[in-house]
Amino acid sequence: MIIGKLKLNGNLILAPMSGVTNLPFRLLCKKYGAALVFSEMACSEAIVRKNPKSMERGFTSLEERPMGIQLLGSDPDILASSAVIMQETYRPEIIDVNLGCPDQNVIRNGFGSALLKDPEKIGEIIEKISGSVDVPVTAKMRILDSLEETCKIAWRIESAGAQALTVHGRTQKQGYSGKSDLDFIKCVKERLSIPVIANGDVFDEKQAMHVLEYTQCDGLMIGRAAMGDPYIFRRLSQYLDRGELLPARTFEERLDDFFGYEELCRKYDLMAYSDLKLKAQWFLKYKENIKPVREKINDARDVDSIIGIMRALRGNGF
Ligand SMILES: Cc1cc2nc3c(=O)[nH]c(=O)nc-3n(C[C@H](O)[C@H](O)[C@H](O)COP(=O)(O)O)c2cc1C
Repeated sequence: MIIGKLKLNGNLILAPMSGVTNLPFRLLCKKYGAALVFSEMACSEAIVRKNPKSMERGFTSLEERPMGIQLLGSDPDILASSAVIMQETYRPEIIDVNLGCPDQNVIRNGFGSALLKDPEKIGEIIEKISGSVDVPVTAKMRILDSLEETCKIAWRIESAGAQALTVHGRTQKQGYSGKSDLDFIKCVKERLSIPVIANGDVFDEKQAMHVLEYTQCDGLMIGRAAMGDPYIFRRLSQYLDRGELLPARTFEERLDDFFGYEELCRKYDLMAYSDLKLKAQWFLKYKENIKPVREKINDARDVDSIIGIMRALRGNGF
């Protein structure tokens, strides 16, 4: 897949996910074949104030390229300024605009999916950012109730200069309920000439193939299925490229991924107690009869205790 001048080595993309897609997690997904990875959304207003926590969301390394930084906001000038700051600080290959977040705190500020009410503002945002940075600008949107309105916004995004568009086939109101609507995604793909990336509910090989074939989209964005299972990218690409279903990942292999994550957190000085606890729970989530271990992790007071509990699982018959 090609986005602007950026040629990707595949069409499976890691979704931006707040609290999930930090650098170590993105590197794991990349290792297993994600062709492009996105940062957690970073608030433009906080970036122009150089808020350290928001700036940190763009933190990247050469190992993970190409990567995209996703921005959240509503003021076209502030978004453009924040894009310039992120470009100068981290040199991402892509700047993405969040037009999908349904969180109440986000929409109250007019950010994320709240922008879908205002196609002209979206156009202005994409134009301003595209005119301010020298990398491709992309957007990620949710659908609206009406197919026509959805396509109108998608078209405005393209005409304003975006180089690719991701469509999550749910409305703001749906949150994560119901199903991602493939007919809406297919229709957007038919009407645009820039690459369209389908997003929503891909958890296995067969669904990945179905979404790509049905919508004819150029790429597939994977979110929740990668949480605790970055290896999903290897499984999906193996199936899409060769029709081969890989054997289920063993528990030991999942533990290896957890320790791979831990190592990357140390390498990049990003170790955080609450984050490691959450990730440990995810890497265990596919395992049966593991409740007592999960409870122990819940009660763990520090990073070393979490790691100790996870190490003790190695080779002990689980
Ligand atoms: C924990 C979590 C955090 C998310 N954070 C973001 C975000 O920062 N930016 C964004 O555009 N979407 C965000 N999303 C939405 C995902 O990118 C994706 O659109 C959604 O999960 C649907 O894809 P999936 O069915 O593959 O998970 C988030 C989703 C989850 C579950």
